[in-house]
Amino acid sequence: MIVAIDGPAGAGKSTVARGCAEALGFTYLDTGAMYRCVALARLEDPSCAASSLEIGLGERILLGGEDVTEAIREPRVTEEASRVAADPEVRAVMAERQRALLAAGDWVAEGRDIGTVIAPDAELKVFLTADPKERARRRAEQTGRPVEEVFAEQAERDARDGRRAHSPLRAADDAVELDTSGLTVAEVCDRVVAMVDERRDAEGCR
Ligand code: DC
Repeated sequence: MIVAIDGPAGAGKSTVARGCAEALGFTYLDTGAMYRCVALARLEDPSCAASSLEIGLGERILLGGEDVTEAIREPRVTEEASRVAADPEVRAVMAERQRALLAAGDWVAEGRDIGTVIAPDAELKVFLTADPKERARRRAEQTGRPVEEVFAEQAERDARDGRRAHSPLRAADDAVELDTSGLTVAEVCDRVVAMVDERRDAEGCR
């Protein structure tokens, strides 16, 4: 079974996807971390090919065997990730790897194009949103940066992620939209897990 969780930055995707994966006993796939690894590699060597990168996903994120879990969260990498994510060649390589992973087992996969492009047949698609100010506030709290700065950068990235030609950020027609403003992580997770249970009941697989 695949649960696809898409939405803009700061909507709570990572925390919710991680929490749901744990609650359901599914594997968590952070596709944003893959784009961030490409971005980090490109900042070090602008000519490096995405297909040559060895990316290890798990508790820690590895790039060519090196632990980059913290490095890929730096603001300069966040900026660059939104740029490399618009590159069709990079997207093709990442899409192939993501589909190969999702081919077997139970997953909660998080990103921007999981429900629309990577796993259009996912059993459950959730599109998480939140008020832009609330999203910026959450990110500022996580990173310790001024909220106004985060808000301005977020608006720029939202625009870039939403208007790029390849796999722009948008909700799949059959996604359930969930506004997380004012909800706790536990409340959002409970709703997603309840939706998974409903789907399983409907398919008679419990
Ligand atoms: O979710 P995140 O902030 O870690 O994502 C980093 C960047 O990668 C962000 O600009 C959006 C992009 N991204 C994407 O285009 N497609 C995905 N499936 C995941 C992330």
